[in-house]
Amino acid sequence: MPRVTVIGTGYLGLTHAVCLADLGHQVLAIDVDEDKIAKAANGEVPFFEPGLEPLLRKNLDAGRLRFTTSFAEVGAFGEVHFLCVGTPQGSDGGADLSFVHAAAGALAPQLTADCLIVGKSTVPVGTARQVLSQVRAIAPAGRRVDLAWNPEFLREGHAVQDSLTPDRIVLGVTSDRAETLLREVYATPLGSGVPLLVMDLETAELVKVAANAFLATKVSFINAMAEMCEASGADVMPLAEALGYDARIGRKFLSPGLGFGGGCLPKDVRAFRATASSLGVGSVVSLLSSVDAINQGRRDQVVTLAIEAAGGTLDGTRVAVLGVAFKPNSDDVRDSPSLAVCDRLRAEGAIVSVHDPVAMPNAAKRRPDLVYARSVFEAAQGAELVLHLTEWSDYQAIDPAALGRVVARRVIIDARCCLDARLWHDAGWTMRVLGRGVRGAGSPLWAGGLGGCPPEKS
Ligand SMILES: NC(=O)c1ccc[n+]([C@@H]2O[C@H](COP(=O)([O-])OP(=O)(O)OC[C@H]3O[C@@H](n4cnc5c(N)ncnc54)[C@H](O)[C@@H]3O)[C@@H](O)[C@H]2O)c1
Repeated sequence: MPRVTVIGTGYLGLTHAVCLADLGHQVLAIDVDEDKIAKAANGEVPFFEPGLEPLLRKNLDAGRLRFTTSFAEVGAFGEVHFLCVGTPQGSDGGADLSFVHAAAGALAPQLTADCLIVGKSTVPVGTARQVLSQVRAIAPAGRRVDLAWNPEFLREGHAVQDSLTPDRIVLGVTSDRAETLLREVYATPLGSGVPLLVMDLETAELVKVAANAFLATKVSFINAMAEMCEASGADVMPLAEALGYDARIGRKFLSPGLGFGGGCLPKDVRAFRATASSLGVGSVVSLLSSVDAINQGRRDQVVTLAIEAAGGTLDGTRVAVLGVAFKPNSDDVRDSPSLAVCDRLRAEGAIVSVHDPVAMPNAAKRRPDLVYARSVFEAAQGAELVLHLTEWSDYQAIDPAALGRVVARRVIIDARCCLDARLWHDAGWTMRVLGRGVRGAGSPLWAGGLGGCPPEKS
């Protein structure tokens, strides 16, 4: 089996390194962040990912996985080098490829044998060939360097399972040698029937951004339908359920609410739009502009509802926010819809107290001046308005009667459409759910809807 290195040990790289070691490979992983490497070498995962830490420890103990900060060591060790560094959004909306080029530039001069470099980072179409030229220009003379692109589809919160048993493996290659080496690396999942799709570099790069663009479009589609429901008095939840039964549509990613966020979908949509714009592909530009605008609009809509619920102004209103992670089962707050809402609430003068089961330390690094509560009850103490912004299962288990005893006013906005409206209503709460129109007297939703009458402030 080829010896493997993994360059960049963030969410993607650390998971990839651990899972390759668990498949039986000898793996050496590197990062420029010395603290991350020290933690990983000590068996600690520096982010929240269910199941990853025990697997890291198991493979450290088995001697299959090591960590370093030396590119010389990586160059001497690996036959297959996986590039897993970040590709954040640049100032122009396109992908910032500086980490990719820095990593390739640090690796290439250190190569002591023929090798295959495999990009896993999400990049604009055309990047792989640029990296290949860059590496070949600076690799030691006489070394054969191949390059492949192998986009990653893992989901944070399910990363271990997604890495060990992916839906499919996509390989962009320029040589048979690259394909052969990667078939060896992935022999176990391929042997268990995971589909393999081999294509050219450009198509492989595009598969990843096209997949994320489709998922984002699905979310924004159902949120556009949620806006129709809000405006017409209909209810997006049964609508989504009814659509989802159509096998051509499917239920997944059809959850209305506050929209998508995180370290991938928003930046990948914008980077794809920037690439399409530079290539003059207007259809993709206009599609993705709408997807992004609908997504941002949901954040504004929550703030509009909050202002309405507070009687016309949030100035001085105490607001409890439940959830700051961009999604449940993650501590990732990159482009968190909840944090964006918190910013807008505070700009309107609200006094905001937040809670999250795991993401508060990361949120505190980005928003040190928010008030972080140790429990839901502490966050809600004296609150005049509660906002449910990340759908942790813990929040669906809240006893509305008990929470009602600590708040100043029993008013809640469910921006994730998954709390039991009847339960909260029966406990004396006034509730508004994003995407659910108001159905008149007796409705657990407050009367009047967007243009109507929110509960009176006591
Ligand atoms: N997080 C996900 O769920 C996910 C899923 C699929 C694809 N991706 C893609 O994978 C890539 C990485 O994403 P991530 O979420 O792991 O990012 P991340 O920011 O968590 O990790 C990137 C890591 O790369 C390291 N790094 C930067 N420059 C380096 C260099 N020159 N040499 C070595 N290490 C370096 C950083 O220190 C960091 O630890 C991105 O392109 C992303 O779009 C991410």
